[in-house]
Amino acid sequence: MQSKQDDVIGQVAAIVRSRLAGQGAGHGYDHIQRVWNTARTLQAKSGGDLLVIELAALLHDLGDAKFHNGRERSKEFASLILKELGVEQTIIEHVGTIVDNISFRKRESAEPLSLEGQVVQDADRLDALGAIGIVRTIEFGAAFDQPFYVPNGESQKSGIGHFHEKLFKLRNLMNTTAGRELAQEREDFMRAFIAQFESECAGQGNLN
Ligand code: ADP
Ligand code: NI
Repeated sequence: MQSKQDDVIGQVAAIVRSRLAGQGAGHGYDHIQRVWNTARTLQAKSGGDLLVIELAALLHDLGDAKFHNGRERSKEFASLILKELGVEQTIIEHVGTIVDNISFRKRESAEPLSLEGQVVQDADRLDALGAIGIVRTIEFGAAFDQPFYVPNGESQKSGIGHFHEKLFKLRNLMNTTAGRELAQEREDFMRAFIAQFESECAGQGNLN
């Protein structure tokens, strides 16, 4: 038997999936699914109300300001959906506050996050790191005509430049210990990737 909570989560997931169907990879439902999975992994270590965490992870990018003329509308959309499904008002408000305050852009002005908000923010940021982070950076570069790699000494924006300018700063911004641990693992992978990439560019490799 499915619990009522699982039922609500399943319904929200289905709604979010259909609403994000047209959104390109990297910001579509694939991102939401990864953040949802990672948020559950972090919650198992860090605690926090699982229902609030899962709902906020699912709904956090629904009204992303990038796609709504600069206005962040996730809270508004989340409230409408959760109300419709008969979710308790206190939970609706908590989820709304989280989705309204976790984005990187709001870092300076955001309200302090609850433990649940901290978990979802960590999960969202973790999706910019590791193998996924590398792929998303390459996809971004392809979409905006930015090279992934620019040889040393040339001052041009690049994907690897973005690793240093933003992504390698994320580990220190993690809220939870579990988030920091996963960030470290994913950052290490990216650094190993850069080392391998540069070694290949230089024509190096191990020969017997
Ligand atoms: P989000 O909305 O998920 O916080 P962004 O829209 O800023 O993230 O970025 C989406 C993805 O594109 C991320 O993985 C991010 O690292 C990557 N990205 C953002 N800006 C750049 C950039 N200037 N160069 C390369 N990749 C970028
Ligand atoms: Ni996100």
